Amino acid sequence: MHVDDIRTDLNEDGPPNAPGQIARAVVLLRSGGVVAFPTETVYGLGADATNDDALRRIFSIKGRPADHPLIVHLAASVQIRDWARDIPSAAYALAERFWPGPLTLILRRRAWVSALVTGGQETIGLRVPAHPVALELLSAFGGGVAAPSANRFGRVSPTSAEHVRQELGDGPDMILEGGACSVGIESTIVSLIDGDPVILRPGGISPVALEQVTGRKVARPGIPQTVRVPGTMASHYAPAAPLRLVGAANLPDIAARLAAKGKRAAIMALSGYRSTTGQTVAMPPEPAAYGYDLYAVIRMLDSGQHDAILVETPPQTEAWLAVNDRLQRASGS
Ligand code: TXA
Ligand code: MG
Repeated sequence: MHVDDIRTDLNEDGPPNAPGQIARAVVLLRSGGVVAFPTETVYGLGADATNDDALRRIFSIKGRPADHPLIVHLAASVQIRDWARDIPSAAYALAERFWPGPLTLILRRRAWVSALVTGGQETIGLRVPAHPVALELLSAFGGGVAAPSANRFGRVSPTSAEHVRQELGDGPDMILEGGACSVGIESTIVSLIDGDPVILRPGGISPVALEQVTGRKVARPGIPQTVRVPGTMASHYAPAAPLRLVGAANLPDIAARLAAKGKRAAIMALSGYRSTTGQTVAMPPEPAAYGYDLYAVIRMLDSGQHDAILVETPPQTEAWLAVNDRLQRASGS
């Protein structure tokens, strides 16, 4: 099966938002409501970042521990001064180059920012997303919208409004429609707190691109961090069926062994390998296209009909950093 067929099956490009939906979403946000909305990375579960009662509802709808900080979404980069202080020049350079876009900057917070947003830390995560619906919502609202990914805690992030409905049912007061997310995995998170920039979570924006813009060495993930990033622990983004990373050479053997035990294994393949016993999805050979499909494919393969998901290990190169990061977390390793 090819991924394009899966996307068609899922019918992810839902109807456009009816006229007046953005205005309704703004009224809800202003009155402490929780609104799920599309971004170019994944769907977010948003609330007014200055309203503690609304923020508490995000944590309760997601089932997320209260010490996990939330990214504040803004309409324009000039607003970062409202939320952060001691902003280094590298932050402005990165904002100028990559916003709106899939980049979250970790900066020193202003004193008044709610501990529910910061997870009780001295820092704040800020991002201007590139999705037209998100930008329309943020401009009309005017303030910061705190939003984690719109999935239940520890589950795969939603990349369509339908996924949000599957994850959260009628938990949010409203779900804005925005089709399938064009990036498909969460933003690159960069800390600009001490010294050189540090990547806390890899994403669509590469370490090399960050180095070119800042003119500084950028630390890759995997190095012990002084900044705590709850939610980046192993075994985040986990499907219910066990997901295993397997080298191409071992795929036939492991698939055969599972089949002999009567286990139904689905395969996410990169090489020409096709399972003779279970479903095989031919994943795109290029990292951005792979990332675009990743969560939708995991979600489809994890809908109950498989006992395991075998993923052919992608190349271990920097271009595949974000995809490999998400696959490792999904496999709990
Ligand atoms: O692409 C994205 O970033 C999506 C969309 C909705 O914008 N959001 C997202 O949010 O992935 P969430 O909450 O699922 O993941 C945000 C990550 C968490 O691991 C959180 O711990 C980290 O960002 N984070 C947020 N603020 C932080 C801060 N002040 N310091 C360190 N880590 C922070
Ligand atoms: Mg998340």
